[in-house]
Amino acid sequence: MIGVFDSGIGGLSVLKALRAELPGESFVYVADSGHAPYGERDAAHVTARARALTHHLVGLGAQALVVACNTATAAAIHLLRQEHPDLPIIGVEPALKPAVALSQSGRIGVMATRGTLASPKFEQLLASLQGQARFVLQPCDGLAWAIENSVDGSAETSKALQQACREQVQALMHSESQPPDTVVLGCTHYPFAADVLQQLLGPQVQLVDTGEAVARQTRARLQGLAERPESAPGLVLLSTGDPLTLEQAARRWIDPNASAQQVQVP
Ligand code: DGL
Repeated sequence: MIGVFDSGIGGLSVLKALRAELPGESFVYVADSGHAPYGERDAAHVTARARALTHHLVGLGAQALVVACNTATAAAIHLLRQEHPDLPIIGVEPALKPAVALSQSGRIGVMATRGTLASPKFEQLLASLQGQARFVLQPCDGLAWAIENSVDGSAETSKALQQACREQVQALMHSESQPPDTVVLGCTHYPFAADVLQQLLGPQVQLVDTGEAVARQTRARLQGLAERPESAPGLVLLSTGDPLTLEQAARRWIDPNASAQQVQVP
């Protein structure tokens, strides 16, 4: 079984790619909605939550872990790997390298949480690509949460999501004289607003996310592991907050019959 977690529903964008890449595997997904959002919280809170969730998933029998959250990966993956040296742990990071390969103009926008963009891990990633492109960083306060809230599909929350996207896109496109031609979705929630973002950015801008690359990497990491017994692949969805939000999101994007339960992860 592969354990997957995020602060909320965002990691479902990674889970979708994981299930497509690894159709024979079982997954337990935890949405930490009771302790979210992560993006505007300090690294100590995110690290404590990442450790608690990893401990919980290992207790449930996870043989590998996917940290389906850029903010948690940036804050805690080094520590999780130290604490669980035998567990394959795969994280996500904003897809800056693929964006460099795709961009024609060399101007790349990066939409991510404040926590991700402020992390030393992101700073290192940026430094490793110095001189290869001009990156415009946009900390999208509140955007992940607007996406989380819009799962109910109501006119009111959809309008709030439109507004949140518009604010971020305007800030990104007007921060420099020449706007980017490529925009990295550096938070796993953002692919669920890709249509709205694409419409606001315009058709000339290409969006890049990480779900499929992470799924391919996970498959590569699992190849060396011992054979797992033949059993029907399963999916368990747990939320530390309101399981209805996770269930609605999973029914829309993962499996129309999905159901979610509440879990306590202190
Ligand atoms: N989905 C998370 C990420 O990839 C963060 C969302 C949040 O702010 O909680 O960064």
